[in-house]
Amino acid sequence: MTQRILTGYRPTGKLHLGNLHGNLRGMIELQEKAECFFFIADWHALTTDYQDPSLLHAYIEEMVLDWLAAGIDPDKAAIYRQSDLPEVAEFQLYLSMITPLGWLERVPSFKEQQEQLQGKDIATHGFLGYPVLQAADILMVRADGVPVGEDQLPHLELTREIVRRFNFLYGETFAEPRSLLSHSPRIPGTDGRKMSKSYGNYISLTDPPDEIKRKVLSMITDPARRTRKDPGDPEKCSAFQLHKVYSADGLAGIAEKCRTAAWGCVECKGILAERVVESLLPFQERRRELESRPGFAWEVMERGLAKVKPVAGGVLADVRMRMGID
Ligand code: TRP
Repeated sequence: MTQRILTGYRPTGKLHLGNLHGNLRGMIELQEKAECFFFIADWHALTTDYQDPSLLHAYIEEMVLDWLAAGIDPDKAAIYRQSDLPEVAEFQLYLSMITPLGWLERVPSFKEQQEQLQGKDIATHGFLGYPVLQAADILMVRADGVPVGEDQLPHLELTREIVRRFNFLYGETFAEPRSLLSHSPRIPGTDGRKMSKSYGNYISLTDPPDEIKRKVLSMITDPARRTRKDPGDPEKCSAFQLHKVYSADGLAGIAEKCRTAAWGCVECKGILAERVVESLLPFQERRRELESRPGFAWEVMERGLAKVKPVAGGVLADVRMRMGID
């Protein structure tokens, strides 16, 4: 039987290199061999950004265009917007009945995010229920596999716990979904931390060449290498981490030139910048072509919705019956 795969992205704007190498590459491979559901989690975005939804609409469109330009194929995968599938909201309501409060309070992101997102009041019912909504997304299509980053593993574990409780209460209904962790290398941002939207250290897939160059040239290098003549340690350099992805062919030589101070960081990063720019050219060309077709992203989401709708309807009917709401 073909595997069912589902994953969702919160619409936070344009995708960056970390997204591309982290999750997106895996999704592009999976669409060839599995039945894929890729959705834009706009309700999840609202749990933390309900105070200002003004950019949400634009972000959704940007994200879909990025997916398509990167190689997600709407003829293969179902691409849809979460809020276009109200079955998910009803399903979340049912799952919320059986999910103990203690499970949700124990999810690490619940406390972490409240501390990190200072200035946003997320002591809300909606935010506490974030993982229940995610479980509804996943079980709505009976997904077997869920490609996610490491930060999402606790949410997947909670989904499996909800499955076990549901099956215990109402009889065997759902299988436990597996998380599919990507094995891609860690992509450093310009400051050396993991590349992330929230750190503001990212290179967008749509950044123009001169901006990419500027950002790559600003990357943190080995702090011990203060002058051009000091030898460097490539393993302490975030630009070298990126070279591992973009210059795999010449890596030994690059490391050598750093260790012996045969070249300086500016030269080294200049070459890296060229490679990043060049690798993004085909993506950026496709992206521009897609942008010139007004409404295209929304058409794609409509087609995806038509694929997921009957699947969701079937699952919801089953759930209603088991919970006495048929
Ligand atoms: N929580 C995920 C994130 O922040 C997004 C998401 C929502 C998701 N529902 C999902 C991911 C279902 C996988 C499956 O990135």
